[in-house]
Amino acid sequence: MIIKEVSADGYKNLEDIKLVLDPKMNIVCGENAQGKTNLIEAVWLCSGCRSFRGTKDKNFIGFEKDTANVKMLFSDSQRDQEIGYSIKKSSVKDKNITLNGVKVPLFSRLFGNFRCVVFTPEDLKLTRGSPEKRRSFIDFCIAQVKPSYINVLNTYNGVLEQRNALLRSVSGTDIYNKDQLEVYNEQLAKTGSYISVIRYTFSNILNKYIDRLYSSITNGNEKMNIYYQSTIFKELKDEKDYKDKLFNIYMKKLIDSTEIDIKTGFTRYGIHRDELGTYINGLPVREFGSQGQARSAALAMKLAQAEIIRDQYKEAPVMLLDDVLSELDPMRKRFILNNIKNMQVIITCCDSRSVTEMASGKIFEIKKGRIV
Ligand SMILES: Nc1ncnc2c1ncn2[C@@H]1O[C@H](COP(=O)(O)OP(=O)(O)O)[C@@H](O)[C@H]1O
Ligand SMILES: [Mg+2]
Repeated sequence: MIIKEVSADGYKNLEDIKLVLDPKMNIVCGENAQGKTNLIEAVWLCSGCRSFRGTKDKNFIGFEKDTANVKMLFSDSQRDQEIGYSIKKSSVKDKNITLNGVKVPLFSRLFGNFRCVVFTPEDLKLTRGSPEKRRSFIDFCIAQVKPSYINVLNTYNGVLEQRNALLRSVSGTDIYNKDQLEVYNEQLAKTGSYISVIRYTFSNILNKYIDRLYSSITNGNEKMNIYYQSTIFKELKDEKDYKDKLFNIYMKKLIDSTEIDIKTGFTRYGIHRDELGTYINGLPVREFGSQGQARSAALAMKLAQAEIIRDQYKEAPVMLLDDVLSELDPMRKRFILNNIKNMQVIITCCDSRSVTEMASGKIFEIKKGRIV
């Protein structure tokens, strides 16, 4: 997948930007706070995902602007396509988002057309910090190759919220709607066991990619593995029967923990508490990994994400590397560049020399939101 052109105006601080991109390597350099990440973000939104830095829609529009306009031409081996969006300050909800000229109601409806992988300094901490990051990582990887997965996940999260609200309303009293709780249990068990099977199966695929990539970073000296750890199922090996056997186990776990759930006011067990454990030479990276190992592990995970998309669609995603290279030593920098050389890449950095020593391509300089 290749972006041919991007234009952006009024998106945050971006002004009159029109870039004709190189099919391989593009370097956007500039000092801090000039708009590099904003540009990456404007492109990222074309993938139909929410802002990776959690910006609300109304803040997409430049402070002194009325409208944010972004347009992107991209192509895969089949055809050229165009995505555009225009958001007015006066009517943020009513966005004009188009795919090949046809209006779509929401950003999320763009999902599955333009595929990219974004890699930010925050991702270098993927193996550390809370399990939530790793759950989001695996869920997002799955959604990129199986878009319908998002609907199941959303259903689960919606029911979970309702169940927790019910639990909170019970605390202190003994009278509550047991039938309603049972309905929630069933819905959670139904979607939750399906999600568990999908996550488990996918984690095995991911593991193969990660094992190879990590081994290659360390010249075969260290071994990395990931394991999906369910809070419901002890063992998921070859268990596929999510409609019956796994559903029943899930239900039992929810029923058995009802009392404690009521006490604490939240659902203790379920896929929202699962972990994607990352291990190097058999030890959890989160507790025992050095900073270097944790970073290499994160590189392996992000590259695996990109390669899985490439293998699934026979088309590489676009790689967006936002300021990560400057965080890496030359060995890891070279590793990542070598592994994405067959993909189109947009790299942002403060000092283009740090990249151009190792790669060639188009260089753009950005200053106060404009390409200079
Ligand atoms: N809605 C907005 N309108 C105008 N400027 C914005 C808006 N949101 C953020 N900015 C500005 O964008 C700049 C940060 O841009 P960013 O792309 O993160 O910089 P960097 O080049 O360091 O990646 C800040 O100066 C910030 O004030
Ligand atoms: Mg930035």
